[in-house]
Parts: sequence; C-alpha cells; structure tokens
Amino acid sequence: MKIIDGKAVSKAVRERVAAETAKLKEKGITPGLAVIIVGDDPASKVYVKNKEKACEEVGFFSEKFALPESTTQKELNSLVKELNERNDINGILCQLPLPPHLNDKEVINLINPIKDVDAFHPVNVGAIMIGDYSFLPCTPAGVMELIHSTGVDVCGKKAVVIGRSNIVGKPMAMLLLHENATVEITHSKTKNLADITKKADILVAAIGKAKFVTADMVKDGAVVIDVGMNRDENGKLCGDVDFDSVCEKCSFITPVPGGVGPMTISMLMQNTLTAAKIQNGIKD
Ligand code: GUN
Repeated sequence: MKIIDGKAVSKAVRERVAAETAKLKEKGITPGLAVIIVGDDPASKVYVKNKEKACEEVGFFSEKFALPESTTQKELNSLVKELNERNDINGILCQLPLPPHLNDKEVINLINPIKDVDAFHPVNVGAIMIGDYSFLPCTPAGVMELIHSTGVDVCGKKAVVIGRSNIVGKPMAMLLLHENATVEITHSKTKNLADITKKADILVAAIGKAKFVTADMVKDGAVVIDVGMNRDENGKLCGDVDFDSVCEKCSFITPVPGGVGPMTISMLMQNTLTAAKIQNGIKD
C-alpha cells in the first residue's frame, strides 16, 4: 500500500502555476482573484486566509472583501456586479456557506461564468456535463490530479463515488466518466452499499461521515480517495475512510489530513490562472 502525498502533489501544481504566472507577468498580465467572505465563521476565515496566502505564493494579485454578517443580498449582489466589471480581477470566489439570510444561488448565478473559478455557475456545471469546460470544481479536479499521480490508468476501471453533492459527488463522477471509467454514484439511500463499493477499482468517499468506509467495503488493491473532513470521537481530524483498516487492503490511499485537502486551493490557483489566460485571449 502506498500513501498518496497530497502535499507533494499540491506543491507540484502550485509550482507549475507559479512558473506560468511568471511568464504571464512578462506580458504585463497578473492574474487577480477576489475572495468574498460574509460574517465571522471561523473555518471560513481560515480557508480564506489560506487562499490569500496561496495567491501570494504563486504571484497573483488578490483582494479580500470581508463583509459584516449584517450585509444585505443587494449589497452582496452589487459587489459581485462590480467585480464582474473589473479588468484586474479574473476570478471571483464567494466563500460558502453564507449566513442564512443570504441566498448563495443568487450570488453564484450573478458571477460572470468566465470569472467563476469555483465552477459553481450553472453554465460551468453544464459545460462539465458535456465535457467542454474551462474550469473544474476544485475538489474533484484535485482528486483527479491525485489519481493521476499514482500512475493508475482510469480507463475501463470500475469507479464508485460515495456521495452525490453538487460540489463533489456529481462532478467527480463526471470527471471519472470523461476518462472512461465505468462509474457508479452511491449515496445515503443506496441499498447494499458494501456490495457495490467492494467492486470498485477506484473508490472516492465524499459522504461526510467519520470513518464510514471500512475494510470489508473495499476491494483488494483498490485506489481509495478520501474527501472527508470530520472529527472522530476524540475530536481528532479524520476522513470518511477508516484509514487504519482500509490501508492494509488497498494499493493507494489518501490520508486525512494531507490528502485531498491540500489540493483544493492549488486547483483554485490553476482555475484563476486559466481565467486570466482566457480573459486575455491567451491560448494553450
Ligand atoms: N466552502 C467550502 N468549500 C468551498 C469551496 O470550494 N468554494 C467556496 N466558494 N466555498 C467553499
């Protein structure tokens, strides 16, 4: 069994983005990312800080808009519209979840799809469905990078995704399908889940339940990707996979922390770079 080193793969992606950014800067183009955060959710604040740090690391311009909890929908919408018009901003990200009085769908729908670096806008979601996309949602894109890093060929393999969220499960299944895996999406209502997961050559767990996937649910030699981020009974960070038992059965596995987590912000950097290139008419 080999542990997939998310930190190392993430670093390689950032180095690639930084190198391309340096080249863009020679042409007078600096990719710019706007990050909007509303309210004081501590986890969101950490994520946003890490996104700003990553921007600095790869050479992007970034601007944070920290709005108070009392922000109205109208104020938030106006900010998005303003950022849509700004030439120095190539990507717009509104950190979720928003406070309950604000409608996230309304905000997402307002972001110009060519600046939608989360790939949450229905235009980008549709583009993924038909395999003609500019941006991939950061978590599934990060998972694909991790799978590629193993050298395992996805083509023709049986892939099972546990979880059907719009942000992870559904696009994840689509990306695996684009690479010619035979894909099955499972979820909380699936009957005889273990019978399905046991057949998976590639198993992606994105269900949000601590240590849910146990060794008896995993095929010998499977590639196991753990998207979960939970706390166990002792308050320790853990994934959706029971790492200690599953790691003895699989060929590759991602740890939590240090697996999928580090990838997501790197893929956001990749998307912002892509956005800057598209908006400046640079192809390749
Ligand atoms: N909150 C948790 N994950 C994400 C993400 O990928 N994008 C945004 N915008 N908010 C999030």
